[in-house]
Amino acid sequence: MRVLRNIAMILAAAFAFTSVAVADNKDPIIIYDSQFHPTLAKNGMVVSQEYYASEAGLEILRAGGNAVDAAVATGFALAVTHPQAGNLGGGGFMMVYLKAEDRVIALDYREMAPARAHRDMFLDEKGNVDNNRARFSLKASGVPGTVMGLTSALSKYGTLPLKDVMAPAIRLAGEGFPMTWSLYDSLGRYQKRLQSDPVSAANYFKADGSRYEPGELFKQPDLAATLTAIAENGAAGFYEGPVADKLVAAMTAEGGLIDHEDLKNYKAVEREPIFGTYRGYKVATMPPPSSGGVHIVEMLNVLEGWDMKSFGHNSAAYIHRLTETMKYAYADRSKYLGDPDFFPVPVKALTSKDYAATIRAKINPDKATPSTEIGPAPDLDRESHDTTHFSVADNQGNMVANTYTLNFTYGNGKSVKGAGFLLNNEMDDFSAKPGVPNAFGLLGGEANAIEPGKRPLSSMTPTLLFKNGEPYMATGSPGGSTIITVVLQSVLNVMEFDMNVAAAITVPRIHHQWYPDKLFLEPGHSVDTRRLLGQMGHQVKMGETEAWDSVLGSAQSVMRGENGLLMGAADPRRPGSHAAGY
Ligand code: DON
Repeated sequence: MRVLRNIAMILAAAFAFTSVAVADNKDPIIIYDSQFHPTLAKNGMVVSQEYYASEAGLEILRAGGNAVDAAVATGFALAVTHPQAGNLGGGGFMMVYLKAEDRVIALDYREMAPARAHRDMFLDEKGNVDNNRARFSLKASGVPGTVMGLTSALSKYGTLPLKDVMAPAIRLAGEGFPMTWSLYDSLGRYQKRLQSDPVSAANYFKADGSRYEPGELFKQPDLAATLTAIAENGAAGFYEGPVADKLVAAMTAEGGLIDHEDLKNYKAVEREPIFGTYRGYKVATMPPPSSGGVHIVEMLNVLEGWDMKSFGHNSAAYIHRLTETMKYAYADRSKYLGDPDFFPVPVKALTSKDYAATIRAKINPDKATPSTEIGPAPDLDRESHDTTHFSVADNQGNMVANTYTLNFTYGNGKSVKGAGFLLNNEMDDFSAKPGVPNAFGLLGGEANAIEPGKRPLSSMTPTLLFKNGEPYMATGSPGGSTIITVVLQSVLNVMEFDMNVAAAITVPRIHHQWYPDKLFLEPGHSVDTRRLLGQMGHQVKMGETEAWDSVLGSAQSVMRGENGLLMGAADPRRPGSHAAGY
């Protein structure tokens, strides 16, 4: 049923916005609020990719927890109910707004390269990148950051004890939950990857290799034990003791690099958030090692110089400017972005309004510039297949935007024996060899080369929006390289077109990442628009390509109305998402 509903919503979006795309420049105003409706609540809202996880967060809000308590509960619950991307064995980023202190926190709990990692570790004898090693071996795993991230967010900014906040996740793992249609479907698609690892096979499938049917009780006792160890001992329950021993044993057995020292040395880092402005709104977003925040602000600065609203939402003129702007941002990404602890990322220069003006001046309003003619800025001053996003707001004005991941769907597919969790393959987010694209088609070089203790460059972009100085929206998305452009369009739809949160995340999106030189349009764009863009010189694609699916992202978002009313919107693109409020 849920899938039918989702398909119906996507078709509704497709139908509704055909007319937007052909609206002429003089009369582009569409009343979006009549087409898409958010979930409304007064006291608290959790929106995530999975029903039980949103409900877990809601349970904690109802128990008196704040947005951080609920976010941590949701994060641990997703590790149980959405193992495609919810995780203990991966990493991510959390943006927090604390109303009482009027403060934004950017928490980096991205995976780290183990101490024994080295620059050429994914090259074969001939010097070519061995994708299998970089993506599906235990060497593909970075030191997991999620448990440190969630527990430190809770201890610094939460209000409830860890064991209370983790209780829903422990219950879901230990007592089980009825197999959801979306997990059932996903396990079918990734059966081969998971069953090539005996531990994953035993965790996610029945003894005879078949799947749990939708509605059948699905229990994960080993995961329940690991979660209990964390609830009782904090992060030490994961990074030290029996769970750590099991993780290291799994590494040792199959040539992985993570050892006890790596685990003990792992740190979650609070970093200076990236701030930007756009027509009176303030954007607070994730700094490096995310590339997302820098490029969202870079692109907004370029776009602010045009009257984007006047072109009409998703018109050819609008999409052309978005696309050209995206190409310049992704070109800069390839050269300047990496872990700021290892590489001097020129954040100030890339996010300055002056630099944006130089990009804008290069963009021809009528014609696409081929990617071959666009490169990263030459001399900037240097300063010293599932991810999942959830957004939370409480009735005190606090907000959380959290994106975390194993990189690919189910990471490298390998689970830690006796501990019930999957491992990431985040090492593929490094640039294994300059000029050779990673799994998302992204290029990189020196800034993102592998080094011990370094964090691979990410596109994850949890983002907070402020209107008139007040917290207004929390958003973010999965989608690898497409995350940044999805988040850009979600906030632009709000800031330029006053869309409500449901409309802002539902209407059709586009994507361009410089290389490959392709403009991707989601279903729902008009064939007229597509033709006009082609005439301007864009290489337009619709549907599946190697690097992305036929839809872009899944942006679970919350908006806080000026009257304090909370509006949650679950993205209809992927099945199972859920906005839970009270
Ligand atoms: O951090 C990153 O940019 C990637 N590891 C994200 C991967 C991703 O979003 C996969 N799925 N949708």
